[in-house]
Amino acid sequence: MTGDSGQKTTLYQWIGGMEPIGRLVDAFYHQMDTVPEARDLRAMHPSDLAETKRVLTLYLAQWMGGPGDYSAERGHPRLRARHLGFQIGEAERDAWLLCMKRALDETIPDARGRQAILGALAPLADFMRNQQAG
Ligand code: HEM
Repeated sequence: MTGDSGQKTTLYQWIGGMEPIGRLVDAFYHQMDTVPEARDLRAMHPSDLAETKRVLTLYLAQWMGGPGDYSAERGHPRLRARHLGFQIGEAERDAWLLCMKRALDETIPDARGRQAILGALAPLADFMRNQQAG
C-alpha cells in the first residue's frame, strides 16, 4: 500500500505487525465458533485450535509481507494443495470470508487496511474451492 508520504508500505507494517494479526486470527476462529453459517466449516477443523491459530498467524504475517516464518517452518505454502483434503465449495468459501470480514471489523481499526486485506483474501478463498457449485 502507499502511505500518505507516498512511500510503499507492506500490509504487515500498515496494520501494525504481528500483534494485530494474532488478534485477527483469534477473532476469526471465535467467529467460526459462533456464527451459525460457519458450523460445517468449524467441524472440518480440530476441536483444539491452538496449532491452527499459530500456523494461520504465521501464514498471514508472511502473506502480508512480514517475516517468512511460515515457509521457514513448513516450506512453500502450496495452499490449494493443503486444502484438497477438505471439501470446499461456495458455502465453505462464503462462510470463511464471512468470519474473516467480521474478525477484520472487530480487530483492524483502519478501514483501508481492512479493505485491502479482505479484497486480496476473497480471490484466494475462491481459489481454495475444490467442489463444483450446486
Ligand atoms: C475457503 C475456505 C477454506 C476452508 C474451508 C479452509 C479450511 C481449512 C482447514 C480445515 C484447515 C486445517 C486446519 C488444521 O488441521 O489445523 C486449514 C488450514 C489452513 N488454511 Fe484454510 N480454509 C479455507 C481458506 C483458506 C484461506 C483463504 C487461507 C489463506 C489465507 C487459508 C489458510 C490456511 C492455512 C495457512 C492453513 C494451515 C496450512 C498448514 O498446515 O501449513 N485457508 N484450512
